[in-house]
Order: sequence, then structure tokens, then C-alpha cells
Amino acid sequence: MKITLFSVAVSACSVFAVDVPKAEPFGKMPDGTEIQAFTLTNKNGIKLRAITYGAIVLSLETPDRNGKLADIVLGYNTLEEYIKDTPYFGAVVGRYGNRIAGGKFSLDGTTYTLATNNEPGGMKCSLHGGLKGFDKVVWHGEGLVKNGVQSVKFSYTSKDGEEGFPGTVELSVIYQLTDDNQWRIDYEAKTDKASPLNVTQHSYFNLKGEGNGDILEHELVFKASRFTPVNAGLIPTGELRAVTNTPFDFTTAHRIGERVKGDDEQIRFGGGYDHNWVLDSQDGSLALAAIVTEPSSGRTMEVLTTEPGLQFYCGNFLDGKLMGKSGKAYQFRNGFCLETQHYPDSPNQPSFPSTILRPGKTWTSTTVYRFGAK
Ligand code: GLA
Repeated sequence: MKITLFSVAVSACSVFAVDVPKAEPFGKMPDGTEIQAFTLTNKNGIKLRAITYGAIVLSLETPDRNGKLADIVLGYNTLEEYIKDTPYFGAVVGRYGNRIAGGKFSLDGTTYTLATNNEPGGMKCSLHGGLKGFDKVVWHGEGLVKNGVQSVKFSYTSKDGEEGFPGTVELSVIYQLTDDNQWRIDYEAKTDKASPLNVTQHSYFNLKGEGNGDILEHELVFKASRFTPVNAGLIPTGELRAVTNTPFDFTTAHRIGERVKGDDEQIRFGGGYDHNWVLDSQDGSLALAAIVTEPSSGRTMEVLTTEPGLQFYCGNFLDGKLMGKSGKAYQFRNGFCLETQHYPDSPNQPSFPSTILRPGKTWTSTTVYRFGAK
């Protein structure tokens, strides 16, 4: 009897033992710095692979309604391709994700000038942290088991003055893959001088599997009754506009393709959807923001966040020039992003929720992408 109990205990242990994800080499930077990859797997076989360059998620495999796995994020096979040219595939973006008008803002009486690296509608702005944002730097990576599941922690110190931003910011992001199929992302940051901070994840999804064509049949529901309309430079006008009777109304399920080709002025400015929704939940609790359903595979994805905004970008700048990891070019609207964040250009928009992190305060933010199939 004793022996039986003992063997039951041992086999239970081996079933539930979770290994710490190991660092594996994933190429070298031009200066010789080695980039590491970490693979997280959950008990249902969902697999996420991420690297220390840009905290980029390389791949994310989830099952369809028949249990068949597919990689549902766009990206490349090699570090060289990520270094050469990427529209932020899978990366963490910051120090300020999204746009800052004219690359300028004032804070506590000082005006700061950032590099402008984007010019929609002929209007210059700073996009996603500037010329060398958090997506293009090498983070420190550490595999860990957190809350009993495989996880990886990436840390980065952004120096005072980096890309024109004030203050040294210490930032970490932890990716966890839970056994109830959540990719959970926890950010934490501190600064030694006041600075804007708006950090988000820029994965491009295609729930049919990357390389399997466009995303127009995906159905979306957003827990948002307003959005922030933009000018031709994709900078918010400051208005929080009701989505009612517009192509921006996803309070009930609509396909991405249903209204994306219309003559709405906002759609024209974005070349499609490239806008920030004002989430109904504004109290900083982890709340449901979006539900995505892909009818042919049955895959679903829910997005939960503590952030007040959600940028939905439907891959309008993809044009077939970039070759994806399975040898297929990524064409127009072959992937979409749901970037949880504060509103674009907040440092210049006093009526928007503040993005200023001050010394002595710890900034935290959590986003969950939860996967299912039906
Ligand atoms: C964000 C922006 C888009 C575009 C992509 C990257 O989602 O809102 O306008 O710049 O990043 O191509």
C-alpha cells in the first residue's frame, strides 16, 4: 500500500512538474551580442516563442476547433530579417507606443523634441518610440516559472535622453502562458525623472494561421462605445466620438471586411482601421476589451487589459514586400493588431488620461490574450 501511494505521488509530480524555460541562441547582433530565444508551452500544447531582441514574440501556436495547431502571429525565421525591416512584428513598443504629434511635447515647463520617423498624410510624428524604440533594443531575458506556469521576463533600462525622452526608465515585461490558454503580459516600470510612457505589444494576428491570406472574415466585438477620431496625420483631434452609426461600431459582432472599404472620412485617413477605441472600462481593472472569432478555423481570441485604450490596426501598410516565416509574402491586410494602450498623442492632449510616469511611482499594466476554439 505504501509503495502504491508513493508511486502515485511520484507520477503526479512528473505530470505536473513545470520546467523553467531555457535560453537558446537565436543569432547575433552586428556587434556580436547574442540574442536568446525562450519557448513557453502550456499543458494543452499551446506554444509561444520569444526573443531578447525587442521582446519579440516569434511564434504562437494555438489549436483550431479540431485541435490542429497553427502559428497565428506574423513574423520571420531569422534575427537578420527582424533587424533589417519589420513593421514591429511581435515586438514590445515604447517608450511611447503610437504617435506623438510633430515629435514634440512639453512637460513641467520643458519642451522635448523627438525624432520624427513617420509621416502619414504628410504630417510628421514620432511613432512607437522613435528611430530606435524598445522594439529595436536588446533586453535581458530570464526564463522562469511564475504561478506554476512557464514564463519569461525581459528587462531593459532606457537611459535618460534615449530617443529624446527624459529620465532613466527601468522596465520589465513578463510573458506567462497559463493552462487556461492565456498569454498574460505584465509590465512594470520606474523612472528617475518625469517621462511619458506608453508601452504595448505589437503582435500581428491571423487566427487562420499566418500566411493564410487576409483577415477580413474575422469577427470583432469591442467593449468600447467611443473612439478617438484622428486628423489626416493619424493624430487624435481630442474628441471622444460615439461609435453609433459608424464603421467603428463593434459593440455587436462585425466582420473586419464589412465596412473597411467604405467612404467614411476616418476610414480614409487610416487607409482602413488604424484607430484607438476608448474602452468602456476606465478604472484600471483587468477588463474584457475585445472578442475575436475566426469562422473557418473556429479560433477565438479575447483581449483583456487594465489600459483605457485599444488601437485596432488591420495591416493597411502590409503590401506583399515582406516575406513571412512560411515563405509566403504578407499582403495587404494579412494580419491585424490589437494594441492595448493609452490614447495616441496623450502628452499633447491634456483631456486624455495621463501617460506621465513620475519618480517614486511604479507603473504597472496587464494585458491578456486568451485563446479558444468553437
Ligand atoms: C501601428 C500604427 C500604424 C502602423 C503600424 C506599423 O499600429 O498605428 O499606423 O504604423 O503600427 O506599421
